[in-house]
Amino acid sequence: MTTFWSWYISLLTIFTLLALTWLIFATRRGESKGTTDQTMGHAFDGIEEYDNPLPKWWFWLFIGTLIFAAGYLVLYPGLGNWKGLFPGYADGWNQESQWQREVSKAEQQYGPIFARYSAMSIEEVAKDPQAMKMGGRLFATYCSICHGSDAKGALGFPNLTDSNWRWGGEPETIKTTILHGRMAAMPAWGEVLGDAGVKNVAAYVRQDLAGLKLPEDAKADVEAGKSLFATTCVACHGAEGKGTALMGAPDLTHPAGWIYGSSLAQLQQTIRHGRNGQMPAQQEYLGQDKVHVLAAYIYNLSRKDQELAVK
Ligand code: HEC
Ligand code: HEC
Repeated sequence: MTTFWSWYISLLTIFTLLALTWLIFATRRGESKGTTDQTMGHAFDGIEEYDNPLPKWWFWLFIGTLIFAAGYLVLYPGLGNWKGLFPGYADGWNQESQWQREVSKAEQQYGPIFARYSAMSIEEVAKDPQAMKMGGRLFATYCSICHGSDAKGALGFPNLTDSNWRWGGEPETIKTTILHGRMAAMPAWGEVLGDAGVKNVAAYVRQDLAGLKLPEDAKADVEAGKSLFATTCVACHGAEGKGTALMGAPDLTHPAGWIYGSSLAQLQQTIRHGRNGQMPAQQEYLGQDKVHVLAAYIYNLSRKDQELAVK
């Protein structure tokens, strides 16, 4: 704020407070007069006003708010650029400095614990019940908004509790995913393949690769779809459609791991328009140590169905 506006706001605020103080004393006349049954002489909707002094409790409450306001403005930022004298804050109290202070307090408290886990392998951390509790809290705060509070995902967001991986389920790979994020690029094929081509290849993926039934009325040529797949899709999804973790191209023979749905309409939508799933990078935001614990947490979750994990 420029000096002009700072003074403008400060003087306006102080003047208003002083004016209110004057007003309350100036109107507090005849306190000793006691109550009367004389009215002010005006009426509204049949309601009249007695000519009585302010009730004492009201007067003192008002004085109280004035004193509170003065104290507040000395301690906290409120008058222009004045930072306030709140003890313990060199640069004045504000939401950000309070947040900073709480963050550094937490860092002091938990930093050493995270650092200790960081020195262990992800597999080892995944066996530590306390680390799994911390991982669970981090997950609830930073990840559940997309992956769900049970980490089972939703349309467009992968389930992290099973053994179907798009980018790979090795401990270090999971950590890389979380640290640096992932950007999947499934190109749009609508223009290249045409409407019939999209329908045929979608039918092939659903029936032959995923092993799901085609609806009776799906007028598609699965054989034609198969040869289209061999020319257009294998580069990323592999000759057998089992996917390539290096580019996050999912296994098309395991519909349980799909995130965009397996109905013919959803498959056609995916193939026609492409998909660009994005997992946001967490390195800057959470830092190595927290991501290490999170990777262990996810690794542990994904092995729950194998009865190997900490419950
Ligand atoms: C350039 C590499 C590339 C090519 C070529 C490619 N895909 Fe994909 N495909 C991907 C990637 C990467 C994803 C994951 C997209 C995401 O997660 O957002 C994907 C996702 C999909 C999905 C969605 C699976 C799910 O999780 O719901 C289907 C279905 C699919 N591809 C079918 C095909 C078909 C059919 C072709 C050929 C016409 C094809 N893809 C060609 C890279 C490719
Ligand atoms: C803004 C939404 C969003 C948030 C927040 C988010 N993710 Fe993701 N995540 C995604 C999407 C979308 C994908 C799938 C990317 C793709 O299409 O390949 C993904 C993929 C992943 C994968 C890879 C799954 C696989 O099959 O290979 C892991 C592991 C993961 N996320 C963990 C996390 C963790 C841990 C957090 C919390 C720090 C987190 N995610 C926060 C959206 C999110």
